[in-house]
Amino acid sequence: MTQPSRDRTPAGDGPLGPPVSPRDVVAAERLLLRGRLEVEGRLVQASNATLYCSIEGEGLRAACVYKPVAGERPLWDFPDGTLAEREVAAYAVSQAMGWNVVPPTVHRDGPYGPGMVQLWVEPDPDVDLVALSRSDDEAIRRMAVFDAVVNNADRKIGHLLPPGGDHVYGCDHGVCFSTEYKLRTVLWQWRGKKLTAEAVQALERVEAALRDGLGRTLAGLLTEEEVEATRRRVELMLKHRIHPYPPEDWPAVPWPPL
Ligand SMILES: Nc1ncnc2c1ncn2[C@@H]1O[C@H](COP(=O)(O)OP(=O)(O)O)[C@@H](O)[C@H]1O
Ligand SMILES: [Mg+2]
Repeated sequence: MTQPSRDRTPAGDGPLGPPVSPRDVVAAERLLLRGRLEVEGRLVQASNATLYCSIEGEGLRAACVYKPVAGERPLWDFPDGTLAEREVAAYAVSQAMGWNVVPPTVHRDGPYGPGMVQLWVEPDPDVDLVALSRSDDEAIRRMAVFDAVVNNADRKIGHLLPPGGDHVYGCDHGVCFSTEYKLRTVLWQWRGKKLTAEAVQALERVEAALRDGLGRTLAGLLTEEEVEATRRRVELMLKHRIHPYPPEDWPAVPWPPL
């Protein structure tokens, strides 16, 4: 994979400002939606056509991932051509929870047609991802709750992106929001444990948002049944106030786990 250097100045545009932070979601979404997208390379470890890109415009720049719908591999258990919308829906849920666990993600046209574009989060190379995934780290615990809400069928260790500090982002949310219980993850260490107070609050925020703006956003990205199933998952978690148990009729850990 090739990556542009972090302070690359594209010819003709003059010096650009610092890269957009994934925390600055307004600027990041705007840049991702309107910026000039240039493919730099293909991510070799990816299962779909997942492209590493640079994006720039209005004095801002960033690295990002672009997954064109045309490059989506057909799957037996998800309808064709829907993964990009599921990724955007996962971002919307993350924002509604108030946890910012998914990097800013949009749906837009690109050099290979419509697809999802997500801000690149450079992981801290000093973080031991395997140890992090097995730890009782609060950020990872939040990810486990988020995954239960979106019904993530593919939370691998390599889908954890710790930029440094105590925050952790997650990527690859294409196989989320099935109406069937398909939670498949490396993060089962809290199964059956009581949800934290902050998790309950985040779930209450999503529950309210599903009746309002988030509900409308998801309606444009998922089927009615999938939105309803999301509402029910949140309701169930708020009722029982525990982290869910692994499904019994479904491989509960992704293979390979990395
Ligand atoms: N937004 C991102 N920031 C940083 N790294 C990312 C991002 N999205 C994907 N990656 C990296 O690229 C790899 C492949 O992307 P992924 O979304 O898993 O593609 P696929 O759907 O093809 O499996 C990930 O495992 C991760 O290492
Ligand atoms: Mg992946």
